[in-house]
Amino acid sequence: MDSTSRARVEAWLRYGESLGLGPYYRDRASEHAVQAPADGEISVRAEAAPSAAAAAARVRVPVFASAQKPASASPFVPVAAGPSLFEAAERIEGDTLEKIREDIGDCTRCKLHKARTNIVFGVGNPKAQLVFIGEGPGRDEDAQGEPFVGRAGKLLTQMIEAMSLRREDVYICNVVKCRPPENRLPEKDEIATCSPFLIRQLAAIGPKVICCLGACAAQTLLQTNQGISRFRGEWFDFRGSKLIATYHPAYLLRNPNAKGEVWKDLQKVMAVLGLEAKRR
Ligand code: URA
Repeated sequence: MDSTSRARVEAWLRYGESLGLGPYYRDRASEHAVQAPADGEISVRAEAAPSAAAAAARVRVPVFASAQKPASASPFVPVAAGPSLFEAAERIEGDTLEKIREDIGDCTRCKLHKARTNIVFGVGNPKAQLVFIGEGPGRDEDAQGEPFVGRAGKLLTQMIEAMSLRREDVYICNVVKCRPPENRLPEKDEIATCSPFLIRQLAAIGPKVICCLGACAAQTLLQTNQGISRFRGEWFDFRGSKLIATYHPAYLLRNPNAKGEVWKDLQKVMAVLGLEAKRR
């Protein structure tokens, strides 16, 4: 490498380090080393998980799934093997949702800020036993500053109510807090920038169950490129919470036949939370 290029790379790495992204860049090599076929039927906006998401999900073995499948038979393939941004991010003692929102501020950390109307932080019970995580705000969410308020959101509300819960009983948020233009998939750098705030939200809430809606949330937290159909409905551990992934409500709007699968997943969540389905 010539000296100019070398100086440029060194400057870039110093910049990454100053942002706390050192582990992210260091892990990229291992990310490329993993062969992980993508399924993608849910990948409306499905995108490879950033290696920045890596160690938050250190487990990555389906600890609760053993009754269904031995761990060794799991299709689960972590993206990165080494420590990474999530791992580097220690839990912040006494962290609260208010403090996290304050830290986000009028965020310009990634390019998504340019076209957003509102930052969509999250909504619901700050001590919820159940957290739903989507991908990123759409047009309605961007306009109103609240997650899942459009068509997919209305379906999510129905799903929550079918579980004998109210929207305000659970917490709802997204992987990225600003709307990707034209509802495109959030890009790796955007996920890497925004997901540490999601991790802090999860740590502050301390839910019993995290339900990932769609591939983006699941792949981000579980640090995998695997298609969601490979592992939806299985239990994982995420920093002490039970994590399950199911199809995104937007996918269900296009594929209503998949509602039965999702209902099975939600019933698993209900069993863990001791909930009984609403009588019709
Ligand atoms: N889709 C998402 O993933 N999140 C929202 O908030 C709305 C739609």
